Amino acid sequence: MIALRTIALMTQPLVTLDDVRAAAKNIAGIAVRTPLLPCSWEDGLYLKPENLQPMGAFKIRGALHALASLPAAVRAAGVVTESSGNHGQALAYAGRRLAAPVVVVMPDVASPAKIEATRGYGAEVVLVPPAERSSHVQRLVNERGLTFVPPYDHRDIIAGQGTIGLEILADLSDVDTVLVPVGGGGLASGVATAVRSLAPHVTVIGVEPALAADAAESLAAGELRIWPTEQTYRTVADGLRTNLSALTLAHLRVHLAGIVTVTDEEILSTVRVLARSARIVAEPSGAVAMAAYLHRRDELPGGRTVAIVSGGNIEPGLLARVLA
Ligand SMILES: Cc1ncc(COP(=O)(O)O)c(C=O)c1O
Repeated sequence: MIALRTIALMTQPLVTLDDVRAAAKNIAGIAVRTPLLPCSWEDGLYLKPENLQPMGAFKIRGALHALASLPAAVRAAGVVTESSGNHGQALAYAGRRLAAPVVVVMPDVASPAKIEATRGYGAEVVLVPPAERSSHVQRLVNERGLTFVPPYDHRDIIAGQGTIGLEILADLSDVDTVLVPVGGGGLASGVATAVRSLAPHVTVIGVEPALAADAAESLAAGELRIWPTEQTYRTVADGLRTNLSALTLAHLRVHLAGIVTVTDEEILSTVRVLARSARIVAEPSGAVAMAAYLHRRDELPGGRTVAIVSGGNIEPGLLARVLA
């Protein structure tokens, strides 16, 4: 459909169950061990509320593990990342806990709440047009000697996010299906690796907005398909506007059963359902897995299903409009 360019496959080894277990040890005590909540009005559905993490999203897991895995001197010299919001906040939070200076390059269209929160955790925030984020990060690496900690295209980030999969299986050993939001694919790569390594019969399905369906297209094509920012920035799910990387695509091709897409209307109505019926504040990116359960049930295998509510950092004005 919107294939602009195709990138050669990567050669790094895939993340393993042992990598994810090592990450779980590294993040214990700082990242919250979130509960698995049975959904009172949907029999057989369970929610994994990562909005309860201290900075409001699962991203704390990968950021902490990646930062803790750096040599102490590298960490002390400082790190830099690019982020639509949650990874930046997570790295800022982790940096404060592990005494590492953090610079976050954010798109100048990022939500004011996320920009303010990132600064609030002590990070230096640099705002640039969306298309210039990567080149700006590179400049900061060259000029200031900072180490780049990417949002998803990194084995330690994937391993950290995978700790969610360990917790799901520990809490619901007879789970049948796990629904995971997909942006750059770090979360889905880690969760699918952990879940499928421990329980190969479980079906792990990715969910993404129809307006940023690069992962569905890449998996169908068997190669990376990049959607341009002017396409992916149409969706309200601002954490899911990123494309896969070769590394995350390689994980998803091995471990993911498929991708389901949902519309922006379905995402926003699910934000409302989660707030009203489950008392959970979800941001649009955090609501897509539940949206797939509510609106694409015919495309899912069924059985005991876990929907990962990946984050709750919604713009207050948007939440007010959705609830009105
Ligand atoms: C709330 C939320 N959910 C899901 C994702 C997608 O994660 P990934 O890029 O690892 O696929 C993001 C990414 O920023 C996010 O902020």
